[in-house]
Amino acid sequence: MGRLAINGGKPVREKSFPIWPVCDEKEAEAVRQVALSGKWWRGAYSKSEFDRQDTGEERSKIAEFEENFARHHHAKYAVAVASGSAALEISVRALGIGAGDEVITTPYTFIATTTCILNNNAVPVYVDIDHETYNINADLIERAITPRTKAIIPVHFSGDLCDMEKINILAMKYNLKVIEDAAHAHGVELDGEKMAGTFGDLGVFSFQSAKNMASGEGGIIITNNEELADICFSLHHYGRVKDGLWYEHHRLGWNYRMAEFQAAILLVQLSRLDKLNRIRMKNAEYLYEKISKIDGIKPCRINTRLTKHSHHIFMLRYDATKFGNIHRDKFVEALNAEGIPALTGYTFPNYANPFMQSQIFKKGECPVVEKACNEEAIWLEHRLLLGDRNDMDDIVKAFEKIKENCTELQ
Ligand SMILES: Cc1ncc(COP(=O)(O)O)c(C=O)c1O
Repeated sequence: MGRLAINGGKPVREKSFPIWPVCDEKEAEAVRQVALSGKWWRGAYSKSEFDRQDTGEERSKIAEFEENFARHHHAKYAVAVASGSAALEISVRALGIGAGDEVITTPYTFIATTTCILNNNAVPVYVDIDHETYNINADLIERAITPRTKAIIPVHFSGDLCDMEKINILAMKYNLKVIEDAAHAHGVELDGEKMAGTFGDLGVFSFQSAKNMASGEGGIIITNNEELADICFSLHHYGRVKDGLWYEHHRLGWNYRMAEFQAAILLVQLSRLDKLNRIRMKNAEYLYEKISKIDGIKPCRINTRLTKHSHHIFMLRYDATKFGNIHRDKFVEALNAEGIPALTGYTFPNYANPFMQSQIFKKGECPVVEKACNEEAIWLEHRLLLGDRNDMDDIVKAFEKIKENCTELQ
């Protein structure tokens, strides 16, 4: 028997970390009220509901949530939809991107950032990530722009904001649209004023169960452009338009609507967002300081310009050479055995997924992302950051213990 838990030793920790989603009677009561109202979709309310105007009548939870979420993120308009993937797909279509157009994005993201482009018959063009942030490397974008490029989709991975200043300068120079994939960046604020999702033409968030605001499934698009908001609304509602007839469809839409139950939960989740994000920020800063001292473990940078951070994932970079060349996957197995539920993250850069093999991307084209996926990235989910100081210390202890005993893994 070794000292490490993976070899039968006593684990650093046996209790669990905080569970996610955080939920109490408030969510339960909100769902109960919708159930008893019998109004389970936004169409159950008056026609003004579909015009998104507050007429003073009883309003749907969805309309109320759209208004609150938009206000919270300093945006004028919002369209709540069935998922973050739907929000992305609608956004690409709303900007008129279609067959043959190229869209620049990051390969280090969930597959929906790619499928929203492909499902609109456009072509994803991948730009490698920055090693310090794991976000798209804004300095490499310009060389990927061609006459066919129509848009950029930066992903604020883990809640860290992409370099939107550089991205927007390029967008202006080449007349490109910008869709922010802010699926990880609820309530993220730069320099005390501007919020994630409001730097580009459209900003997209997910409320899938793992996200910092959760309703099982769900998504939202925010924008300051009224015309775009109307197009997104129409696309998510089978191409219907404001003041149009019910069976009159003006564009190729789909049913991407959110249900009232989701919005009722999300109104409560939004009311907790800032408080929970503050706890994550405090713990992330503490963990960053402690864990940075371990030779061979480097957290991704914490962007000090972010006055509000979501820390959807606490990102670490693992250097196997400092751990007797033990592979990252083995190290993470050992961490799990010590009671730390770390993850290895995305298995492939988006372009290397099995269904993408016919695409033009060659292995080695984006070396930073390949290294992240294959050997370097370690993820700690945001729920771990909702614990207390002792929880953070346990995480650090587990890393230190494996470091001290890494010969046991050989
Ligand atoms: C970066 C990113 N974009 C988009 C999505 C898609 O969101 P959803 O699962 O709500 O469709 C996700 C969800 O995992 C994501 O992580």
